[in-house]
Amino acid sequence: MKIVAITGNVSRPSKTRALGEYALSSVSPGHGRYLFDLVDVLPVLGTTLWRSEAPAGLANVLDAIQSSDVLVVGTPVFKSSMTGLLKHLFDLFEMTALQGRPVLIFATGKAEAHGEHVEAHLRSLMGFFKAEVAVTSSMRWTATSRIRHHLRNFGSGSTANSHALWAMVSSRRRT
Ligand SMILES: Cc1cc2nc3c(=O)[nH]c(=O)nc-3n(C[C@H](O)[C@H](O)[C@H](O)COP(=O)(O)O)c2cc1C
Repeated sequence: MKIVAITGNVSRPSKTRALGEYALSSVSPGHGRYLFDLVDVLPVLGTTLWRSEAPAGLANVLDAIQSSDVLVVGTPVFKSSMTGLLKHLFDLFEMTALQGRPVLIFATGKAEAHGEHVEAHLRSLMGFFKAEVAVTSSMRWTATSRIRHHLRNFGSGSTANSHALWAMVSSRRRT
């Protein structure tokens, strides 16, 4: 199984990337684990308007996302949403590119109140692609350990689509 995480941080060090790294570290050996962030594809991401024009480095990241068995999408909260460039990265995909894909979503931010806003944006975006994101409100705030729990379940191949994740990890806490 190929598990790909993409995080929408635009600089490093990054809490969001660290959380993505931590999450992937729980995937059992034998599965492919890949972590990318926007720093990997800057500055070319911002000037690439069509996937067919993506330079090799960006094309590799897009290909990895599209060919994943499980996708993990994390973002810092920017103005109550995902970062603009993360949205732009997903704008480069065809609408069928992620159909049926199990997706775990999470965000890091300072204001807990913005959690439901960024969740709505991420769900809406993944919903557009008909990806499989199921989030219950009781899981809206969850410990990092829960991310590991869900990824372990994905890693062992058990009922991937029935699992959902929402993590809003306050940047005031250490991740
Ligand atoms: C331009 C900008 C806008 C932000 N807007 C919000 C916001 O609306 N709500 C919020 O909770 N945090 C906001 N933050 C704080 C970041 O979400 C928070 O510091 C995040 O954990 C940073 O993640 P990173 O370390 O991966 O970059 C903003 C930060 C920046 C730089």
